[in-house]
Amino acid sequence: MSDPPEADGRYRAIVVGSGMAGLFAALEASALGPVLLMTKAELHEGSTRHAQGGIAAAIGPDDSTEQHLADTIAAGAGLVDEEMARILVESAPRRIRDLEQYGVSFDSAGEGRAFGREGAHRNARVLHARGDRTGAAITSALARQVERGRVVVREHTLATDVLLEDGETTGVHALDQATGAEQVFESPAVILATGGAGAAFSHTTNPPVATGDGIALAFAAGAEVCDLEFYQFHPTAFRQEGAPPFLISEALRGEGAVLRSVGGEAFMPRYHELADLAPRDVVARAMVAEMRASASDHVWLDCTALGGVDPHERFPGIAAFCRERGIDLRRDPVPVAPAAHYIMGGVRTDSWGRTTVPGLYACGEIAATGVHGANRLASNSLLETVVFAKRAVEHIASGEGGAMARCPESAAFAPAEGAPPDHATVQRLLWEHAGIERSGEGLRAGLEAVAAWGDVERGDSREGHERRWLSVFAELLLTAALRREESRGAHYRTDYPERDDERWARRQVFHRDG
Ligand code: FAD
Ligand code: SIN
Repeated sequence: MSDPPEADGRYRAIVVGSGMAGLFAALEASALGPVLLMTKAELHEGSTRHAQGGIAAAIGPDDSTEQHLADTIAAGAGLVDEEMARILVESAPRRIRDLEQYGVSFDSAGEGRAFGREGAHRNARVLHARGDRTGAAITSALARQVERGRVVVREHTLATDVLLEDGETTGVHALDQATGAEQVFESPAVILATGGAGAAFSHTTNPPVATGDGIALAFAAGAEVCDLEFYQFHPTAFRQEGAPPFLISEALRGEGAVLRSVGGEAFMPRYHELADLAPRDVVARAMVAEMRASASDHVWLDCTALGGVDPHERFPGIAAFCRERGIDLRRDPVPVAPAAHYIMGGVRTDSWGRTTVPGLYACGEIAATGVHGANRLASNSLLETVVFAKRAVEHIASGEGGAMARCPESAAFAPAEGAPPDHATVQRLLWEHAGIERSGEGLRAGLEAVAAWGDVERGDSREGHERRWLSVFAELLLTAALRREESRGAHYRTDYPERDDERWARRQVFHRDG
């Protein structure tokens, strides 16, 4: 039975988004009182459902949180917030236990758990479920608990504004997409868990709901945002004309799959000592170079000789997707190319998930906690969702209130007023000008295009709101990327190809002008 709001119509907490961060936050918060979970599509939709590789936790033999921390810091290219990353890795064992108590069953090997390996991890520490259907397994378990429990769920309900009174959060303004009715839901604590923004790019691994809404919503409410120039491009998205976005997990390379040029050469050893398991930005750029050299839109992932693993058994979801397209993983190479995958930046939060607006929390991919620095270590993001969702709820329970301290170097920013004529225009613009390789010239051209977008009729539809948010997101990303005159982690500038610690060993923070 779900609890109605309290007698005055208020909820103890409102959670926006039903990926892993939102589902987990809603479940934990439901112990405190009535909780509303709103989500703009079905309960199960979000990036979480599509996650394949797994969730990192240093709980295997010969592993340690110190090694997990060291790998996280090394991947982040000089910008990881060490205190936050320590919280992340040290909380992992407890959050894995919580997930198991909520009904998630991780795969086992022999007597113990099975651990996969992914790029830039020195140990095999990635827990997975149902082979490569980790995200689907986690989503179903958590959604089942939510449906059985005390959380009020509103599907197809789009959060359109964070409501404020005297600068403090009082609730959420929303659009009921079924009826078109505008609604107000009241609560002194709002947790934004709206995920990433991969759908802002032409090529992505993300589902269409990932349009960066929460970043634009929080920014409009006065919250600081940061690290927006750091967008991770996953090297191996399936690439075939007309195919839907689909990831070919890095865990395949962890099991021995090899990238080959269209001419058949295993090219990665020429680019990095870790070859196919080099950091994602290195692999993605190497692939772009190979694709350019051969005038091809893809390279091949050869999974025909995995070390003692049958790809059909270990990766049933990927095998099924490929089989439907006439590709047999045991025999045929898979066409792959890089695609937008994960945003390291977002709404700036402290270790309790607090933003700089009192009562407004953020967790999951939307949050810029600092744990990923300029480049995320594989499988740390599912972990981040639960670690910081838990802490946000603990903070709400404490009744302490308050907000994260503002950053003294935060830059005031006034976004252009317009919106793109359609979603595809933003996607092309960001892919072309803010993709894997960027330049000052391209980024400036992107910003000029955004400034020229007129105030097109947007209406009160979900699509209309999303176009406006995409515009704000695109402008913030282009601005942050133009200012960062160096290359670091996922941000690569052809005109500044070196890392410049003297000028740029720092994070960029923005707040809304006025
Ligand atoms: P999401 O799961 O994206 O959920 C966001 C939710 O917010 C959705 O329910 C959406 O509908 C809702 N929403 C958005 N805007 C609004 C709005 N305005 N109003 C109401 N609702 C809204 N990470 C790993 O650690 N390991 C992996 O193996 C892994 N594999 C991945 C594979 C793929 C294909 C993808 C795309 C990502 C993968 N990642 C992986 C990254 C990871 O899955 C995500 O970072 C993580 O799941 C994000 O969870 P979340 O809860 O923050 O957001
Ligand atoms: C993958 O399975 O390759 C994705 C893992 C991640 O993004 O963390």
